[in-house]
Amino acid sequence: MSHNPIFPVPSQALTRTRMNSSQYAESYAQSIANPEEFWAAQARELLSWRAPFQNTLDWNFHTATIKWFEGGKLNVSENCIDRHLELRGDKVALIWEGNEPGDTKSLTYRELHRAVCETTTLLRSLGVKKGDRVAIYLPMILEAAVCMLACTRIGAIHTVVFAGFSAEALRDRINDCSCSILITANEGLRGPKTVPLKTTADQAVSECPTVRHVLVVKRTETPCPMQDDRDVWYHESLNSIAGSDNSAAEPMDSEDPLFILYTSGSTGKPKGVLHTTAGYLLYATHTFRYVFDLQEDDVHFCTADIGWITGHSYVLYGPLANGATSLMFESIPTYPDAGRYWDVVERHKATIVYTAPTAIRALAKEGDHFVTRYSRSSVRLLGTVGEPINPDAWLWYHSVVGEGRCPIVDTWWQTETGGVMISPLPGATPTKPGSATRPLVGVQPMIVDEQGQELFGNDVTGRLCIRFPWPGMMRSVYGDHERFRQTYFSTFPGLYFTGDGCRRDEDGYYWITGRVDDVLNVAGHRLGTAEVESAIVRSGAVAEAAVVGVPHDVKGQGIAAFCVLHAEVLPDAGTKMKILATVREVISPIATPDHVWFVAGLPKTRSGKIMRRILRKIGEGEYGAVGDVSTLADPSVVADIVSLVQAARLSKD
Ligand code: PRX
Repeated sequence: MSHNPIFPVPSQALTRTRMNSSQYAESYAQSIANPEEFWAAQARELLSWRAPFQNTLDWNFHTATIKWFEGGKLNVSENCIDRHLELRGDKVALIWEGNEPGDTKSLTYRELHRAVCETTTLLRSLGVKKGDRVAIYLPMILEAAVCMLACTRIGAIHTVVFAGFSAEALRDRINDCSCSILITANEGLRGPKTVPLKTTADQAVSECPTVRHVLVVKRTETPCPMQDDRDVWYHESLNSIAGSDNSAAEPMDSEDPLFILYTSGSTGKPKGVLHTTAGYLLYATHTFRYVFDLQEDDVHFCTADIGWITGHSYVLYGPLANGATSLMFESIPTYPDAGRYWDVVERHKATIVYTAPTAIRALAKEGDHFVTRYSRSSVRLLGTVGEPINPDAWLWYHSVVGEGRCPIVDTWWQTETGGVMISPLPGATPTKPGSATRPLVGVQPMIVDEQGQELFGNDVTGRLCIRFPWPGMMRSVYGDHERFRQTYFSTFPGLYFTGDGCRRDEDGYYWITGRVDDVLNVAGHRLGTAEVESAIVRSGAVAEAAVVGVPHDVKGQGIAAFCVLHAEVLPDAGTKMKILATVREVISPIATPDHVWFVAGLPKTRSGKIMRRILRKIGEGEYGAVGDVSTLADPSVVADIVSLVQAARLSKD
């Protein structure tokens, strides 16, 4: 690692930057010396308040209590829309690029205001009020953004569920936070495929007693079943309330819940990450402005779906709170071919591209001509998020996509952190391919060993913790505060533990090495091993399963499932298909294992704990490096598994 190439800040990034290296050093020092003063000043400068806050911060990492800006009142939709009307009413807020190339629409801030006010009135007419939970299960269409903003206008808590999730996953999320309304579409379009959203939603809602109404956006002309009394067409109801206006924005307390977003942990079911109003909005606004070095004429193309935190913070809230232009992309990177992103860039003159390493790797494999046949001259900045980026992919992104002239911001953060935590700043930080470089202003990372002792200085490797609150951090697990405390603050008492391993190199640069817990990161999607294992067992064929991550050249990490079958079940292709189909149905196609290996037994300690370390090594193909097996109840299972996996790999299973 000692010969990492360093890419200096390009001169074009320096000329108009909001923060150069000496400004960063100065701000960083101030933000650490007096974080409350720093964030209070940011909150006053970047947000519009109905009532000023009195108390900047109240916190205790032992009890998992974090409160920012108490006493303050504000409304998120007012901050994202209304306050821009005077100066930027005719500026484009959202550009939409549909599934078919060139099928596009846009909304100016004034048009967005109107759409959000109408939807606010509609939701209120359906009985939605402050504090209610609203589930959103929509494709990447403008209505998704409008509905999220309308919820914030009312003070209703949205929970967006990625439209690729199964009926069961949707049902569990709706029930966990007792949503009263579900907003969906008749059908979604993803590349060459259609997605029967309403049918899936019907299946889910049949087991959701709290859902009173399903609001259905008509995305295509395909009919779908509608249930009297419960189901309502979105556009028809907008027409029926035309002329009435009940769209006043609700003044919210700083710590009122804003949204819930479910994400996987190392144990149990996905947890509802709860973000609150002022802190989240400030953090999304601040980080968007500095990480992407926002300029008034930017067109920001973040490829993330609105169902993930990246979509929340950097398609919607961060850009709109800053009065920027944000592009929503409905399709997939390979439809109709692998040039689609760059086609979008050329037609909409995007200035910033923010995507995931898995997409970069998949597109790099298809060949440079898919990129070079489109002009990328509008682009000034590239970003990545979601998983470690391997230097090869970074270099391809830099030289082919960015023509060697655009800085890359490799942004490390999590659903829980609300916004970017560690990242280069385009005008301030020389970059090294594969490193997220340095903490943002106001962020205090810390590397500890397994016992929680801080590792001081440079050239150290350990676990990544954060020692001081930042405004965007999650406040609780919805309905289970103890789980919040346990998950993030009990491993290393007094610290927020990220779950990631990390190295700080000789220059003080941070390199995220991946999860150190039982969380998988497959193509940038987070999945818990326990979640996938229980889905596999649901197939009825499997008595016991253990899942580990294995290296995958496009997805970063793939899934290997070691399965012990019930006595009467045959270890054949039919059984494998059944297992894969069950996982898709219970979770989503995202969670489909890449390998299913039928084994006679799993390596367990005498107390019955599965030794995943051994399975991980076997999955990585490091058969000789499984380490000490003497503590296993039955050490012979290891040799059996190794020969089975070797044989399966030879037959390309
Ligand atoms: O392991 C880290 C990885 O993704 C995890 C967070 O996943 P999620 O909550 O789904 O949020 C993804 C989008 C913010 C982290 O714990 N991760 C995210 N960004 C990076 C990363 N790993 C390395 N480098 C990154 N830039």
